[in-house]
Amino acid sequence: MIGRLNHVAIVVPDLAAAADTYRQTLGAKVSEPLPLPDHGVTTVFVELPNTKIELLHPLGEKSPIAKFLQRNPDGGMHHLCYEVEDILAARDHLQAQGARVLGDGEPREGAHGKPVLFLHPKDFCGTLVEIEQV
Ligand code: CO
Repeated sequence: MIGRLNHVAIVVPDLAAAADTYRQTLGAKVSEPLPLPDHGVTTVFVELPNTKIELLHPLGEKSPIAKFLQRNPDGGMHHLCYEVEDILAARDHLQAQGARVLGDGEPREGAHGKPVLFLHPKDFCGTLVEIEQV
């Protein structure tokens, strides 16, 4: 069911320092910071030949990643995003398999303007999983 790995998201305490690490130390192509107030994050996209890395930093008081950063002050891997062709079919399949979809189960618009859902980390080897319809 799942297709390509769309991105790996990493929460970072210092977006500029993290962008420098990927640009200078790792020699990757790195975007300018992009504030996404609706999502409560500022994002830097790192483009790799086969996938993307998203560096995330909390934005605003109700950021969904604020707690994660409190628990992981050095930053850390936050989620993996897999592509699916049909997000509703994917959701129905996952739920039929006993996997928990977070929230009300209705896809919302993700950071790339495409419908996404998040899946409970306890059902996926301790890793928060995002699925994105592409
Ligand atoms: Co994501």
